[in-house]
Parts: sequence; structure tokens; C-alpha cells
Amino acid sequence: MVLRPPRSLGEWTRYHDIRKRCIFNKYHGKGSAHYFKYDPGYRDERDPANHPLIFLADGVVIGTIRIDVRPEGRAVFRLVAIDTPWQGQGLGTIMLEMAENYARARGAGVVCLNSVPDAYSFYARHGFNPARWDGRTRNETEIPVMKQITSEPMQLAA
Ligand SMILES: CC(C)(COP(=O)(O)OP(=O)(O)OC[C@H]1O[C@@H](n2cnc3c(N)ncnc32)[C@H](O)[C@@H]1OP(=O)(O)O)[C@@H](O)C(=O)NCCC(=O)NCCS
Repeated sequence: MVLRPPRSLGEWTRYHDIRKRCIFNKYHGKGSAHYFKYDPGYRDERDPANHPLIFLADGVVIGTIRIDVRPEGRAVFRLVAIDTPWQGQGLGTIMLEMAENYARARGAGVVCLNSVPDAYSFYARHGFNPARWDGRTRNETEIPVMKQITSEPMQLAA
């Protein structure tokens, strides 16, 4: 299992395709109250503090996550997804663990994310708790959560 940035056009295509199908079309599709068109060129994707990553199993891209490294020891996980055929087999758990290691290696002591209701039990099982973190979503159908990933107590702003 590998978690790393996309390196080829094919890998970037998979990255965007998985996010679009597994998250945008499912939770922000046309007709939904939170319609949002997926834009692969969105400026946040090019922010050098934000790390678009793919998760590979046996060389196949099966998942995506973007890890935004914030000041004050915080990381935000964005658009966490395992592609449909590979869901429910423990692979999301492995990707989450690797993503936490990736964030920790870049100075994060805390991880924040906005969970869709379907995925809330997944995050709760892995130590995330509801928290009104700074910069959380204003979409009231999602649940902002947070997890401490170091044993050092962190002083958090709001
Ligand atoms: C949420 C997700 C990343 C979890 O990865 P996974 O490999 O399926 O998860 P694991 O096999 O390690 O763990 C299983 C748990 O994941 C959750 N899960 C499984 N399939 C899911 C799905 N289609 N959608 C949401 N959560 C799911 C369940 O809590 C499941 O626990 P259960 O078996 O007790 O019901 C993955 O299912 C997914 O990409 N879902 C669609 C996109 C999504 O909802 N992303 C989260 C955005 S915040």
C-alpha cells in the first residue's frame, strides 16, 4: 500500500475521477441542496500547503485524499474516498492511518475534517470526535470532526 502524490496524467485522471464519482456526484450532485460542480482546476488544489494524494494497492489507484497542512499544528483531510469496488474491505482504515502518519510527519498534531453522515461511524471508530473547528464547513448536513494524532497536548485556537 502506498500513499503519494499523483505522478502521471493517468494518475491525476484517476484522482479527479474518484473524487467526482464517490463524493461530488453522490453528495453534491445536481438537484441536491448542496449542489457543487466538481472543478479539477480549483485553486485550493494548487496551494503548495495542500497535498493531493492517491492511495495505491498493487499499483492500482484505489483511493484519494487531500491533506491540507495548516499553521498551528493542524491538518485538514479533504475528499477522503475509496473507489466503490474497494469499499468496505478495510482499505479506508489503512489509508486513514497512512494519512495520519503523513500529516504527523509534516508537523500536525491534530486532524480536522468534515464528515458526510454516511461516513461518520467510520471516523468515530477511528477516534474522531465532533468539534467546531476553525474553517469547518457551513453545510449543516456534514459533521465537522477532529482527532488528536500526537500524545503532546495541543493548544488550539477556537
Ligand atoms: C468512507 C470510506 C473512505 C471508508 O473506506 P472503506 O474502505 O469503505 O472503509 P473500511 O472498510 O476501512 O471500514 C468500513 C467502514 O467504512 C464505512 N463505510 C463503508 N462503506 C461506506 C460507504 N459506501 N460510504 C460511507 N462509509 C462507508 C462504514 O462505517 C464501514 O463500517 P461498517 O462495515 O461497520 O458499516 C469509503 O467507504 C468511501 O470512500 N465512501 C464514499 C465516499 C465518502 O463517503 N467519503 C467520506 C467523505 S467525508
